[in-house]
Amino acid sequence: MGKSILDYDTVALSDDKKAVVIIDQTLLPNETKLIELKTAQEIWDAIYLLKVRGAPAIGVCAALGISVLTAGTALPLPDTQENRDRNLDALRSAFLKDKEYLAGARPTAVNLTWALERMAGVFDSCAADRDLLMEDIRNRLYEEVELIRQEDIAVCRSIGEYGLSLIKPGDGILTHCNAGQLATCRYGTATAPIYLGHERGYDLHVFCDETRPLLQGARLTAYELSAAGIDVPLLCDNMCSSIMRTGRIQAVFVGCDRVAANGDAANKIGTSVVAAVAKSYGIPFYVCAPLSTVDPKTPDGGHIVIEQRDPDEVTQMWYKKRMAPENIHVYNPAFDVTDNSLITAIITEKGIARAPYDVSLKEMMEA
Ligand code: MRU
Repeated sequence: MGKSILDYDTVALSDDKKAVVIIDQTLLPNETKLIELKTAQEIWDAIYLLKVRGAPAIGVCAALGISVLTAGTALPLPDTQENRDRNLDALRSAFLKDKEYLAGARPTAVNLTWALERMAGVFDSCAADRDLLMEDIRNRLYEEVELIRQEDIAVCRSIGEYGLSLIKPGDGILTHCNAGQLATCRYGTATAPIYLGHERGYDLHVFCDETRPLLQGARLTAYELSAAGIDVPLLCDNMCSSIMRTGRIQAVFVGCDRVAANGDAANKIGTSVVAAVAKSYGIPFYVCAPLSTVDPKTPDGGHIVIEQRDPDEVTQMWYKKRMAPENIHVYNPAFDVTDNSLITAIITEKGIARAPYDVSLKEMMEA
């Protein structure tokens, strides 16, 4: 049997440890192409252009990217104890420059800065240990990324278990964008309950919004869930009310890029529409979020920076011919904020948080 998309790592280290290897997600589902990212510019571009995308995967890519870049930074002197101070200065200044640069690739997903800050913490603690030379610091950074990857898998699985407790066999689930394996290291967040349910014979029906303008639902979610053998009818974004009205949707699961302290959640543009429609039909709307996506420093959704993207994504990128007048003004925010009042629960790896979220999320983060 041929290799399925689910057999690939979303983000990995090359065998020679000199490159980040990703699946170029802009080519899916038509072509599965692995590409190597070696320079800061290549890593930045891959994140900005959504060759790698999804909040947790962006974080892993940046963490691995900064490890590769740090490993490739030339030291001014041989890596010995007597040269440590000068070498450390050089390594640290390259590290901080790369960290700042990569953090700017996409502003909304908090996992990007979360992962880079975590790597910076490792760098600092190694720097404080005078027994460690530059080679040791570089190895420690690689080890930390592997820990992040393993944690991501465990976190998604745990979200899956909690999410599965909220549905039953035969249910219809609606999802928006791709919060699947392609957005994480395995299982996804919003798709984790679905994968676990599938493993246990739940016979779920996963209605998947195509997700204009970049079609992550159609190109990625429909692709990876069907590769797993899951029933995944595809919908245009403007069909969610129509399908909900039929009574075939029992729950909505979506991922998110940043959850504010009060539970407002930023996710792919169109998510808040799904939430509002779900509420009008009395369908539970669940946000699946690793705690690394919760940002206690952002008090509410009004403070989340929303990425604005190229107008061409709306007017021509996916069409044979341009589908809007030349020079038309285009509004193209990549994300929107779903008000916490529309969210039935936020499912994290530590449990199911319910309103008031400022209390429940705080308790989970402190646990
Ligand atoms: O622009 P994208 O494709 O990176 O947007 C992705 C999403 O909105 C996902 O739902 C979110 O990052 C969660 S991924 C587990």
